Amino acid sequence: VFSHVVRGPEDPILGVTVAYNKDPSPVKLNLGVGAYRTEEGKPLVLNVVRKAEQLLVNDRSRVKEYLPITGLADFNKLSAKLMFGANSPAIQENRVTTVQCLSGTGSLRVGAEFLAKHYHQRTIYIPQPTWGNHPKVFTLAGLSVKTYRYYDPATRGLNFQGLLDDFGSAPSGAIVLLHACAHNPTGVDPTVKQWEQIRQLVRSKGLMPFFDSAYQGFASGSLDADAQPVRMFVADGGELLLAQSYAKNMGLYGERIGALSIVCKTADVASRVESQLKLVIRPMYSNPPIHGASIVAAILKDRDLYNEWTIELKAMADRIISMRHKLFEALRARGTPGDWSHIIKQIGMFTFTGLNPKQVAFMTKEYHIYMTSDGRISMAGLSSKTVPHLADAIHAAVTR
Ligand code: LMR
Repeated sequence: VFSHVVRGPEDPILGVTVAYNKDPSPVKLNLGVGAYRTEEGKPLVLNVVRKAEQLLVNDRSRVKEYLPITGLADFNKLSAKLMFGANSPAIQENRVTTVQCLSGTGSLRVGAEFLAKHYHQRTIYIPQPTWGNHPKVFTLAGLSVKTYRYYDPATRGLNFQGLLDDFGSAPSGAIVLLHACAHNPTGVDPTVKQWEQIRQLVRSKGLMPFFDSAYQGFASGSLDADAQPVRMFVADGGELLLAQSYAKNMGLYGERIGALSIVCKTADVASRVESQLKLVIRPMYSNPPIHGASIVAAILKDRDLYNEWTIELKAMADRIISMRHKLFEALRARGTPGDWSHIIKQIGMFTFTGLNPKQVAFMTKEYHIYMTSDGRISMAGLSSKTVPHLADAIHAAVTR
């Protein structure tokens, strides 16, 4: 009965790792998936995560019972506080409902399912370009996906006027997906002043902001600075949705730990919204896993562990920034044609190089360098040792 099933394509991002794993070359380099690597090219478990896990193991009172449908209560409270700030009026007035979800993707999906069932507008505008999984998550949840202009290939920067025009002509009430910081794949973010203009337009048109926050702490190295755009929207008293992930900033990729928050107008509405989120979650996966949430909660609630985390997070962000400078210098040293200053201007985990799919295919074939075909490279996968190899490959690709 399944003989008619045709083979589906590999995922455009995770499929890069599949191809990389099959390559026997000793010089191969995986710059596809956004996952942090050390200078030695190895995955990193943060020291503070090891410490938190040790505390959990030593605590004999811990059991493996089911969590509530909404997840670990401490984790939810601390996650909302991390993004909205300790003194957020929305939290103090109990206008926020937060539910633990399966990392950023799961949070987006639960939020989208909720909107498709309970929100009057089913159209969501996503930036062009955006993370490849966004349109799939929203479409499968029942939303209709449209794009807004975001990136200008000519300047390799923000197409701010295009964004304002597209928001201006969106139907009232439409949902707009906003990357909270460190836009994926472009590494191009609005300035604070531009965020303020975006906020005013979003509110005056009654658009519904849905923030995707996968990189808090990675853009600037500061958790508070990276939360600023979201906090600006919360401060005006309006509604919003927020998907948070701890994959990158705590290195908890495989723990699949994140949260969905919905900021409402009143505590009563927030509690009714939460009751409906439970009805979305229960038939999907019943309730979320306990381990990742316990690690995050242990770190966020202990001042020493929290401080240690911020230091390790800053070290990851700084190493990525140093890779930007090394790659930029290496291309300059080779006299590679073109203006490569966007490598040091863009922020977060990725550089959107401007290399085209043919050049990317060439670099994979001849240099065993793996990246997504849109020319995005994960700076977090680079090290001082591998920068020259990448620079050689880029130079060859643009001069052939
Ligand atoms: C990425 O964009 O590389 C990451 O967000 C990982 C993923 O799941 O695609």
